[in-house]
Amino acid sequence: MAIERTFSIIKPDAVAKNHIGAIYNRFESAGLKIIASKMVHLTKEQAEGFYAEHSARPFFGALVSFMTSGPIMVQCLEGENAVLANREIMGATNPADAARGTLRADYAASIDENAVHGSDALASAEREIAYFFSADEVCPRTR
Ligand code: PPS
Repeated sequence: MAIERTFSIIKPDAVAKNHIGAIYNRFESAGLKIIASKMVHLTKEQAEGFYAEHSARPFFGALVSFMTSGPIMVQCLEGENAVLANREIMGATNPADAARGTLRADYAASIDENAVHGSDALASAEREIAYFFSADEVCPRTR
């Protein structure tokens, strides 16, 4: 098993509904360690930059508007196969398709407001962690 790092966002809808602690509990219960964390309120420019690869998609404006609508929690998670493990904890992008017991099944209202983001691959995890955290803000954990 490979120890990996992945990047995670608790989106404005889940922060507004006070689900931060419950979601952190899911990460930790699954063996993922939170090795960097902060609350931020994205500017339009920051959100557009983060989602730049989706800029041509029809929902891009709505996605940027939603992601700037309130504070978010951003975190770096570390653990065995962390990228895939976090995607499994999150569930499908559309909560209507998300398996029971996943974060999106439990905390997301719709595909537009789907509670969490998680990196989809190691390369994107590295890029996304660096988008939000400097190297000295990420604290490797002793195991
Ligand atoms: S994924 O999870 O990246 O494979 O999903 P994808 O379908 O490629 O979607 C990319 C991001 O856009 C969000 N999304 C939407 N936002 C608003 N409205 C609609 N209809 C919509 N469809 C997809 C989706 O949640 C992805 O954002 P993140 O932050 O990665 O979850």
